[in-house]
Amino acid sequence: MILKPTAFLIALQTVIAVPLAYPQSFQFDLVLKDLYYIQDLYLGTPPQKLENTILDTGSTDLVLLTPYFKPNDSSTFHNTTNEFEGVYGTIAPFIMYQASDILSSPNGFLVNNETFGVSNISSNDFDGHYGICGVGFTATEFIQPEYKSFPYLLKEQGRIERVLFSIDGKPQNGSIIFGGIHSGIFQGSLTKVPMIERISSKTGQKAGYYLVPNFTVNEIKLGDIVISNENTLYTIDSGANVFAPPDPVLANLFVAIGADSFSDDDEGYTYFNVEQVNGKQLSFDVQGFELKFPLKDLIQDTREVNGTTYVGIPQFTVDIGVNADTGTLPNFLLQYYYTVWDYENHQMYFANYSSIDQGSKGKIGVASGTDLPVPTQNPPHPLATYSVVYNPSLETTLTASPTSDGYKNSSSVTGAEHTTSVTEAEHTTSVTEAEHTTSVTLSKTLTLTSIYWSASSSSSSATTRTSKPGKESQYVKPGKESQHEKPSFVISTVTEIVYACPTT
Ligand SMILES: *[C@@H]1O[C@H](CO)[C@@H](O)[C@H](O)[C@H]1NC(C)=O
Ligand SMILES: *[C@@H]1O[C@H](CO)[C@@H](O)[C@H](O)[C@H]1NC(C)=O
Ligand SMILES: *[C@@H]1O[C@H](CO)[C@@H](O)[C@H](O)[C@H]1NC(C)=O
Ligand SMILES: *[C@@H]1O[C@H](CO)[C@@H](O)[C@H](O)[C@H]1NC(C)=O
Ligand SMILES: *[C@@H]1O[C@H](CO)[C@@H](O)[C@H](O)[C@H]1NC(C)=O
Ligand SMILES: *[C@@H]1O[C@H](CO)[C@@H](O)[C@H](O)[C@H]1NC(C)=O
Ligand SMILES: *[C@@H]1O[C@H](CO)[C@@H](O)[C@H](O)[C@H]1NC(C)=O
Ligand SMILES: *[C@@H]1O[C@H](CO)[C@@H](O)[C@H](O)[C@H]1NC(C)=O
Ligand SMILES: *[C@@H]1O[C@H](CO)[C@@H](O)[C@H](O)[C@H]1NC(C)=O
Repeated sequence: MILKPTAFLIALQTVIAVPLAYPQSFQFDLVLKDLYYIQDLYLGTPPQKLENTILDTGSTDLVLLTPYFKPNDSSTFHNTTNEFEGVYGTIAPFIMYQASDILSSPNGFLVNNETFGVSNISSNDFDGHYGICGVGFTATEFIQPEYKSFPYLLKEQGRIERVLFSIDGKPQNGSIIFGGIHSGIFQGSLTKVPMIERISSKTGQKAGYYLVPNFTVNEIKLGDIVISNENTLYTIDSGANVFAPPDPVLANLFVAIGADSFSDDDEGYTYFNVEQVNGKQLSFDVQGFELKFPLKDLIQDTREVNGTTYVGIPQFTVDIGVNADTGTLPNFLLQYYYTVWDYENHQMYFANYSSIDQGSKGKIGVASGTDLPVPTQNPPHPLATYSVVYNPSLETTLTASPTSDGYKNSSSVTGAEHTTSVTEAEHTTSVTEAEHTTSVTLSKTLTLTSIYWSASSSSSSATTRTSKPGKESQYVKPGKESQHEKPSFVISTVTEIVYACPTT
């Protein structure tokens, strides 16, 4: 709009009456290659660019590998020499030491005293990454005692006004903005969904720890087929490209996909005739806001058997209250929905992306307080929040018809309703569970001082840890992906599995 001079003056007066600028915010580009890689973060003096570093909402520490980051080349590098164990979903436990340095962007200084972990394990043992930039809650830090991680440090050092970030996860030109949002990128209002307090499976009361950014999912469907109708807590893990629901939900999903399938429990996949997978959508009802993605996004392997193409879906599950507090939704969702993560107010916001490309217009900083400078709305079912610990036995059960790809459901599980096909489905998941348990029954963090072990070393430090590294490394199977032409099996961090519930 072109303003006439008088109108301009009036407008100018109006502008003067309100704050002239939004608070500062900091944007970093994201490159999507199965996982999101954060660009243009620099560490040290002179600044070293952090290459091949994933953005992970499922963990909290910045962890870097040598020699990609060179501590000795930074004059401001500070080594505490404290050592900690890092445990991520598909990465065997490893040792890092705690350090700190100056973090910057191409535009200059960002924060002082950024705490991070340095490890000398090889990139191969780190799923091919050179670093992980965790932006989760402080309570899931490996490095102890609790410290202010990057988003919190930006606020503490007055760089942003609210501990909040927003993710444009679209496949092209994605970005994360710390302290701000991109008002031009979504349609309509942002739907505000509360993050839910942890509920202790022991007491049934809110327990208030083991924080992950989480929200209620009321129902999950594959197409029109309900595969979960029990309120469940989920988080979206930008560092995971797998769907890790409770056991019964994965079993239901597998029944709902169809009977032409086989499982390879060594690989940790169930393979389905590709015809049964194509064109189907998984949808998640988040208090009335629908999140969905194509089922084929879950495919991580392909096999030709008897002239038919079968596609492999990983058998990842969680046992809520036992080895996890929440299920995990894969990072694909970020490709389809704009998200705002307001840690300070414990709110998530979701919106459909706008079909109109706004370019970089409308990126605005968010002030302290509780409101956002854009329209927001409550979800359609604001009261439908997770309030009791997920109970697998109350989940809906899909039963495959023995004669066709049909299915029926039951709302409760009784012995009589277990048909052969259900047994088969449950068999798949109980194997899953067994295998999964090896990778999930881990303690949050172990503080190890001067003890180093690897999956291949038969270290004597077993008494100081609660999990056996050899097991995890079996699950990691780093050699497997090289069999496929394309890296179809991307091993990602599924950090929820770090949450062995502490006994209270
Ligand atoms: C880095 O500096 C430390 C302390 O001075 C030294 O022990 C270490 O050998 C150096 N590492 C390299 C790769 O130069
Ligand atoms: C930092 O301390 C750890 C633990 O003592 C040590 O292994 C590492 O080499 C040190 N790093 C540098 C760059 O001095
Ligand atoms: C730097 O951060 C550490 C926590 O990682 C904290 O203990 C220390 O006090 C901080 N130093 C300064 C100067 O703020
Ligand atoms: C990594 O560092 C540890 C000490 O923290 C050392 O024992 C080990 O040999 C190093 N490994 C490699 C591959 O440099
Ligand atoms: C991504 O950004 C580049 C310029 O940086 C632009 O040419 C291109 O059209 C953008 N792509 C999309 C899908 O927005
Ligand atoms: C979910 O997030 C809230 C913070 O918004 C936190 O208090 C709670 O402990 C988290 N729940 C779990 C299970 O991590
Ligand atoms: C179970 O199937 C019946 C119809 O047979 C349907 O009305 C009901 O909504 C289904 N329930 C679930 C949880 O899928
Ligand atoms: C492939 O054919 C063989 C021999 O007929 C049969 O045993 C096997 O079950 C078939 N595999 C699949 C996945 O259909
Ligand atoms: C998001 O887009 C879908 C169509 O793709 C539409 O059905 C849904 O109502 C939209 N949600 C909101 C909150 O605008």
